[in-house]
Amino acid sequence: MADFDVYRLPEDHETIRAAVREICDARVAPHAAEADETGTFPKASYDALRASDFHAPHIPVEYGGAGADALATAIVIEEVARACASSSLIPAVNKLGTMPLILAASEDLKQRYLPKVAAGEGMFSYCLSEPEAGSDAASMTTRAVRDGDHWVLNGVKRWITNAGESEYYTVFAVTDPAARSRGISAFVVEKSDAGVSFGAPEKKLGIKGSPTREVYFDNVRIPADRIIGAEGTGFATAMQTLDHTRVTIAAQALGIAQGALDFALSYAKERKQFGKPIADFQGLQFMLADMGMKLEAARQLTYAAAGKSERGDADLTYFGAAAKCFASDAAMEITTDAVQILGGYGYTRDYPVERMMRDAKITQIYEGTNQVQRIVMARQLLKG
Ligand code: CAA
Repeated sequence: MADFDVYRLPEDHETIRAAVREICDARVAPHAAEADETGTFPKASYDALRASDFHAPHIPVEYGGAGADALATAIVIEEVARACASSSLIPAVNKLGTMPLILAASEDLKQRYLPKVAAGEGMFSYCLSEPEAGSDAASMTTRAVRDGDHWVLNGVKRWITNAGESEYYTVFAVTDPAARSRGISAFVVEKSDAGVSFGAPEKKLGIKGSPTREVYFDNVRIPADRIIGAEGTGFATAMQTLDHTRVTIAAQALGIAQGALDFALSYAKERKQFGKPIADFQGLQFMLADMGMKLEAARQLTYAAAGKSERGDADLTYFGAAAKCFASDAAMEITTDAVQILGGYGYTRDYPVERMMRDAKITQIYEGTNQVQRIVMARQLLKG
């Protein structure tokens, strides 16, 4: 037999999981209910993650980061989400916002921004969607016009995760309206740039501790060298980014589902009806078995996709979409069943499973609805 592990997580990754879980149990989970109740950004969770380099673990070592590979980053996000889905958007959106730079920016731009995120000086959000350009991202109308040594941006972005909290924004804008998706470019915009402002926080079903706001660009003048990659390559960069980060949404879904399953298991062993723990009833056992089975299938697909993300495999587009779609559907089912297992108690805010069910829903929607994921998968299958 060869002396390598066959089909199991490397020991390093198990070590990372144990470290994140310990921090999250002690310093993130205690703030989850309050972040949800009050709709406030969990700064204490950010500080805890920042202190351990788990706030943006994917930033490469050469830019001052922890240099976690895609699988390790997914595990970090999964473990944070198990404790608090809103907090898991700290590492997840930092990856989403910076991935366009990592994939396509000039060395100078990378050197200017990535170390700041690694050092925890600011988070990075991703501005693709607009009020009239959601699934059809290429129909965006935010405009960037060249003016000497500057670009001038005008437009509105919607559904921007961590907007207002983030210092930095990757903004996709039309630079050549005639060229449709080939006329879109990507830029770095700073919160402090004149002309940047934010809408009121959206009133959402879940992930209430992570602000979602509109971002307005009113004649925002930025230096020309803040373009990410070549003019006209922004849409491809946006799509390549999502290929990688759909894996992180899958990981977030896994974590939310694991949190709900863990809670349902312990409750089922404690709660007595008809003179015995409800876990002794076969009907409930079948539910728990299905929850565990779906979760593990989702986990295997997500980790396979993370491996492809790390290696940059050609079939990442397919696997990223499949993992995100499968894991988020599984999370919705598992969290809904967890509420069912707790019965009336599960329906109240005295227990965390209703929060987990509300938090799971967004994973079927953002970074492309699960209908869009199926379009992406089918196109890849048909291409052969
Ligand atoms: N990698 C590289 N290039 C890609 C690509 C990929 N994965 N996917 C598409 N492209 C390229 C194509 O090759 C094509 O290039 P050429 O013109 O040079 O041939 C170009 O992009 C246009 O591609 P399509 O014709 O396939 O584009 P489309 O308009 O039909 O759209 C889509 C395809 C899959 C529906 C896409 O629009 C999409 O993914 N929509 C969903 C958007 C989305 O996920 N939004 C979420 C925003 S992030 C978020 O949720 C906010 C948050 O904060 C969490």
